[in-house]
Amino acid sequence: MIGLATYSIPQGDMHLLDLTAMELAARPIPDYLRNVYTWAYLTPWLTGILDRQIVVQAILWGNAQRLIGDVLAAVKPGDRIFQPAAVYGSFSRQLANQIGRRGHLEVRDIAPLQVALTRQKLTNLPQAHVARGDAVDPDQSEYDAVTCFFLLHEVPDDIKIQIVPAMLGLVRPGGRVIFVDYHRPNRWHPLKPLMKLVFTWLEPFALAMWSQEIEQLAGPGAAAFRWSKRTRFNGMYQVVIAERVSVAVSDAGTETERQSIPNWAGPDPIGEPGIKRPLEPCRLPADTLPTSHDPALSV
Ligand SMILES: C[S@@+](CC[C@H](N)C(=O)[O-])C[C@H]1O[C@@H](n2cnc3c(N)ncnc32)[C@H](O)[C@@H]1O
Repeated sequence: MIGLATYSIPQGDMHLLDLTAMELAARPIPDYLRNVYTWAYLTPWLTGILDRQIVVQAILWGNAQRLIGDVLAAVKPGDRIFQPAAVYGSFSRQLANQIGRRGHLEVRDIAPLQVALTRQKLTNLPQAHVARGDAVDPDQSEYDAVTCFFLLHEVPDDIKIQIVPAMLGLVRPGGRVIFVDYHRPNRWHPLKPLMKLVFTWLEPFALAMWSQEIEQLAGPGAAAFRWSKRTRFNGMYQVVIAERVSVAVSDAGTETERQSIPNWAGPDPIGEPGIKRPLEPCRLPADTLPTSHDPALSV
């Protein structure tokens, strides 16, 4: 079983894997990760190159810091935050610094190597804790916010529709789940054909993000949230915030909804108009979701 999870990890790097065979048997590395992303997340020498902010910035066509800024703007000092998967570069450090020492950041990742790398990056930040975990089945706890940064496009559709409700289940009333991920670029986006090629070649689960709203992946639980979405870089990326509706009871005994979704009506710093689009609650049953083979995906 150890071999299953570590076949690409040389003997000298075994110290990175703080796992017993029993732990691995209880929570194996998913097939999609081993089959598609071994090079990116399970290969130590390559992670030494990839785990740099400048690389993340390049992969996201210069938009990484802007997208991280959107996440930081949606959390505040003292918040309790859950991050379901590791992110290369400085994302987690910036998040931990934003919530400060009074806050708490719980990071999980299914890949032992990523847990080890993230722990290294977060040393000296006692508000952050990193452990192994599966976003499909997180430990139950209540958070002010969940930050799901570019995870959905890397998992198959049947896992997407498990992760989104699992993340929604972790926030308190008034709490937010912040999803940042790929999105269908605008019609004439010059990088659209290239991105389609990259996805076809390297990221087979990503094209589905072009045809599915994240809200659609939430199932019936979506109705308990207020949804807001903005796109960045001419539609290439999306920032979706689902805020659990909290109901305040007034002195007169009447119930009113509280809402604090950010105001995204202002202009994007690079010229793209900001979009604030609260979506209607989605009532699509999960089995009507389009799949990556759906004809709607063709560009
Ligand atoms: C957040 S995603 C993509 C991040 C982005 N490419 C970056 O690093 O900038 C990558 C991480 O998700 C992790 N992952 C994939 N499936 C997971 C799951 N079901 N639960 C937790 N982590 C998962 C992978 O091990 C990997 O470390």
